[in-house]
Amino acid sequence: MAILELQGLSKQFGGLAAVSGLDLAISTGEIRGLIGPNGAGKTTVFNMISGVYKPTRGRILFDGEDITGLPAHEVVKRHLSRTFQLTAIFREFTVLRNLLAAYHLFSKTGFWNSVLNTPLSRNEEAQFMEDALEMLRFLGIEDLKDEIAKNLPYGHQRVMSLGMALILKPQLLMLDEPVSGMNPQETKNMMDRIRETRDKKGVTIFLVEHNMKAVMGICDQISVLSFGKKIAEGTPQEIKANTAVIEAYLGVEDHAA
Ligand SMILES: Nc1ncnc2c1ncn2[C@@H]1O[C@H](COP(=O)(O)OP(=O)(O)OP(=O)(O)O)[C@@H](O)[C@H]1O
Ligand SMILES: [Mg+2]
Repeated sequence: MAILELQGLSKQFGGLAAVSGLDLAISTGEIRGLIGPNGAGKTTVFNMISGVYKPTRGRILFDGEDITGLPAHEVVKRHLSRTFQLTAIFREFTVLRNLLAAYHLFSKTGFWNSVLNTPLSRNEEAQFMEDALEMLRFLGIEDLKDEIAKNLPYGHQRVMSLGMALILKPQLLMLDEPVSGMNPQETKNMMDRIRETRDKKGVTIFLVEHNMKAVMGICDQISVLSFGKKIAEGTPQEIKANTAVIEAYLGVEDHAA
């Protein structure tokens, strides 16, 4: 069954059709890639799904429910979580407090409680600590729980932000360029963590990434956007051999690492 289905999804910014008539269905348990040249509309798709932008046209179905146009805090309650293209972390907080902030931010207590560090109820706190420590162990950064985020190497900051997205146990996780700016070793570690998130936690993954080696290595299926339109879809092997895809990338900057 499709956990996420996009039907004729479109977004217009003034005269610019950033996304046009996008149909896409992701099965439960899949790792799906969304690729395309710069400006193709990938982040705009994520922004519509996560409730940052309202679509101009079309529908978004999540787990069979129409979530089109719902605000971001309503979307997140439905166990759909994302990371952002640029690292969104609290630089002065410890790793554990970053997870706590994410937990507050996306739970009923809201943003200000998270920034002001309003205490959780005892039950909530016990539950949070159990979940957070399990999460850090799962991600292999348990030893870093009391480190200040800004002091961590970049790769670990990004793994922490994956933990922030996972702390509310999403069914679907959307990752916008999870390995951008990483060295090969950090990239491999992140891809392994993402694969394990699917394999061991059963989370369906939808990811945007310019690093073709990473995308081809991890995705079950890949959808390709060019100028806001889907031009191809298939397995990594099919996409690699697709002439429309090759043409769309010709003459543009090569991002492959
Ligand atoms: N808020 C906005 N207002 C106006 N135009 C926007 C807005 N957001 C995105 N765009 C435009 O929509 C198009 C698609 O942008 P988008 O960020 O979705 O591309 P992308 O595929 O994520 O690119 P990249 O790979 O560089 O991150 C671009 O032409 C962009 O300039
Ligand atoms: Mg983008």
